Amino acid sequence: MSTASDRVYFFDTTLRDGEQSPGCTMHHAEKLRFAHQLASLGVDIIEAGFPIASDGDFESVRAIASEVKGPRIAALARCKTIDIERAGKAVESAASNRIHTFIASSDLHLEAKLRITRQQALDQAAECVRLARTYTDDVEFSAEDATRSDPDFLIQIVQAAIDAGATTINLPDTVGYSTPAEYRAMFEMVRGRIPNADKIIFSTHCHDDLGLAVINTVAGLQGGARQVEVAMHGIGERAGNASLEEVAAILKIRNDVFPYTNNLVLDQIGPTSRMLDEIISFTPSPNKAIVGKNAFAHASGIHQHGVLANPLTYEIMSAAHFGVEANTIVLGKHSGRRALEHRLKELGFNLTKEEIDQVYTRFTALADRKKDIYDQDIAALVPQPATV
Ligand code: KIV
Ligand code: ZN
Repeated sequence: MSTASDRVYFFDTTLRDGEQSPGCTMHHAEKLRFAHQLASLGVDIIEAGFPIASDGDFESVRAIASEVKGPRIAALARCKTIDIERAGKAVESAASNRIHTFIASSDLHLEAKLRITRQQALDQAAECVRLARTYTDDVEFSAEDATRSDPDFLIQIVQAAIDAGATTINLPDTVGYSTPAEYRAMFEMVRGRIPNADKIIFSTHCHDDLGLAVINTVAGLQGGARQVEVAMHGIGERAGNASLEEVAAILKIRNDVFPYTNNLVLDQIGPTSRMLDEIISFTPSPNKAIVGKNAFAHASGIHQHGVLANPLTYEIMSAAHFGVEANTIVLGKHSGRRALEHRLKELGFNLTKEEIDQVYTRFTALADRKKDIYDQDIAALVPQPATV
C-alpha cells in the first residue's frame, strides 16, 4: 500500500469486531454474502474474522479469502503462535491478504489480564510479527488499549513491531475512553517519534463507549492516520465501533475540513445496510445518521414547507447519494397544509383550495387521534363526488 498523503483506507471489521457482539453472530453463508457486498461497497480491507475462535470462523475466513475478489482479506490473531498459524492458513488463498496481530500495551492489561511484563510483551510482539511475516508481507500490529498506555512504552512496542516487519500500526481506543484532541495528539506524538513514520500506515480503531468513536476516528486522520477501522451500523464490542457510513459521510460532506480521498462506492451504503438488517437481529435506531428510518424524514410543518420549496433548507445531503430511502415527508400532527397538499397531489387528487381547506381541517383532527397517518387515511378524508 502506498503512503499517499490524502488517501484513506477503509478497513471494515463488521465481520470480526462487529460479529463478535451480542445479536450479531452470523452463519457461514451470511458472512460470505456480506463480504461480497463489502467488496461492492469498495472497502479496501475486509477483516473477515478471528480464525482461532472456532472451526466455523476459520472456514468462513477461508471461504471469503478464496471467493471474494477486490479487497485485501485480513484475519485477526492474538500474539500467539497458534493464532498466527491459523490466521495465516485461513487467508492463504486470497489474492491479497493480511494478518492482524495484537497484544495489549497498557500496564493494566499486561498486569491484570496477560500477567506478563513489559519486556515479555515487547518480545512477544516482535516474535509474532516476525512469524506473521512468514505467511504474508502485509502484517498489521495493534497495541491494544493504546490510549491508556504509557506513551514511552507505546513507542517502544510500536517500534519493536515495525522492526519485526509490521506495515500497518493500529492504535486502538479499545475502551472508548479517549477524546478527539487526545486521540489526534497520540497519532501526532507516535508519528513524530518513530523514524520513517511515512513508510507505515497508521490506523484508527475506536469504540463508542462515550459516543465518540466517529469523531475520534476523523481526529485520528487529522493526526496522520490513514486507515480507519469501522463497522457497518457501528456494530462491535459493547457500544460498538465507529460506524462506516458516518465516517464515509463526514469525509464526503465535510471534505472541506477533512480533505481525504477513499475508494468507497457511496450509493452501496444503503444496500449494505439493508443486507446487515436481514442478517443480524437488530436494526439501527430510527434516528441513526444516514441509515436510520428517519435520517432523511421531515415531520414538522415548518421543515416540510422548507424542504418542499428547496431541499437544501433542511437537508445537507441527499439520501440517493448513499443509496438509502428518503421517506421525505411524513404526515402527522406536526405537518402543515403544504405537506398535505403535496401528498394529495402525489396520490392523484387535484382539489380546489376550498376542498384542501376542508381536508386539512379533518386531517388535523385525525392526526390528534392517530399517531401514524397512512395514504389510505388521507384518501378517506377527501370529499367524495356527489352521486346522482
Ligand atoms: O478494540 C480493540 O482493541 C480491538 C483490537 C483487537 C484491535 O478490537
Ligand atoms: Zn475493537
